Amino acid sequence: MTHAGRSVSILGVTGSIGESTIQVIEELRAQGADVPVEAVTAGQNLKVLVEACRRLKPRFAAVSDPTQLAAAREALAGLPVEVGAGPSALEEAGARPSDWVMSAIVGAAGLAPTMAAVRRGALVALANKECLVCAGPLFIEAARAHGATLLPVDSEHNAIFQVLTHPERVEKLTLTASGGPFRTATREAMARATPDEACKHPRWSMGRKISVDSATLMNKGLELIEASYLFGFPSEKIDILIHPESTVHSFVHYVDGSVLAQLASPDMRVPISYTLAWPDRAAVSAGRLDLAKVGALNFESPDLSRFPALDLCRNALQRNAAATTALSAANEVAVDAFLESRIGFLDICRIVEEAMTVLEEGDAGLIAKSPSSFAEVVAVDQAARAAAQRIAANLAAA
Ligand SMILES: NC(=O)c1ccc[n+]([C@@H]2O[C@H](COP(=O)([O-])OP(=O)(O)OC[C@H]3O[C@@H](n4cnc5c(N)ncnc54)[C@H](OP(=O)(O)O)[C@@H]3O)[C@@H](O)[C@H]2O)c1
Repeated sequence: MTHAGRSVSILGVTGSIGESTIQVIEELRAQGADVPVEAVTAGQNLKVLVEACRRLKPRFAAVSDPTQLAAAREALAGLPVEVGAGPSALEEAGARPSDWVMSAIVGAAGLAPTMAAVRRGALVALANKECLVCAGPLFIEAARAHGATLLPVDSEHNAIFQVLTHPERVEKLTLTASGGPFRTATREAMARATPDEACKHPRWSMGRKISVDSATLMNKGLELIEASYLFGFPSEKIDILIHPESTVHSFVHYVDGSVLAQLASPDMRVPISYTLAWPDRAAVSAGRLDLAKVGALNFESPDLSRFPALDLCRNALQRNAAATTALSAANEVAVDAFLESRIGFLDICRIVEEAMTVLEEGDAGLIAKSPSSFAEVVAVDQAARAAAQRIAANLAAA
């Protein structure tokens, strides 16, 4: 089936990826395509949810907070949409029958609703990298067992997906990274960075959590883990290269010396439309690449001393899937603390590193082996959050 007539659901419709997804759908509808919307979800933002429902006309809308049910019903009164609230409503949104589901809730909160889509064998457009980093091999195995198709939306993974013609003949993958707002900053300047400075990304306009992750390069480290789980390559076969122009979105190096890449303007509508139309392509007006204007394409190795997140992620990936669960959870807590100005920018990686040490040395040996069930994933996630919260509180009090 091509995208014509494909029904869709959007988990995280009120976010940055949600908005880009709406724009792609509107553009396809304007071309005469029928794109029925089954379900959408929001976290807190009722105003944007109402606007999204006006534009998309979904059958079902869910908000994450169960106490917001009455407010959501009132806000959406007058629109022909069923309303739900709370974790079960978010899962219902994923479980409702649609051909394609955009997974764009930020953080591990996206795992359960995305799994509901995976369990019914949907086409899952995966923007939320944290659910893959969090549940890793179990998530991939569930997709295989239920016949779900995972379509990567992250521009780097989408690029690899587009040129991965011979997976068994790959020598290595290279993920490109813009370098973020502090690519050339000193550690002293980074220590003083405010949340707004960290969120001022030079190339991409994104939600605040991923923007901070891009500034620490934790985002690239999470993407390293994501690429490893998604494409089945070990850490040693995945390189990271800083590429400030964000034009080449990744490389696949083959055994004959050929290197394939996908290029595009830094505009998320390109990978989103690719996953919606897959295996076809859709005509979208997303930014066109003008290479003469871009001029030069530059590449450099990442500075691992200023950006310790890369080694933290590589070490966790080499350790096991419990370590990647813990790392992602600790990072979510640390980024929240930074965005709320309770800690400094450099404290983010410090907290993640210390939380990993606490879990490694803890009596329960929680990250001694990969989780064998989703319940174990949740236990590791919660322990890592608790450890990171304690460390953040100590740093804030110091
Ligand atoms: N933005 C990009 O260019 C980009 C690129 C690649 C990958 N990604 C990934 O895509 C995901 C979304 O990124 P984004 O930039 O779109 O983030 P965002 O703008 O912050 O949007 C996040 C979405 O998740 C919802 N949400 C937040 N907490 C929630 C919770 N506890 N339960 C349910 N829903 C919750 C938000 O709802 P409310 O706003 O209503 O609270 C919003 O709809 C992230 O995992 C990110 O790493 C993003």
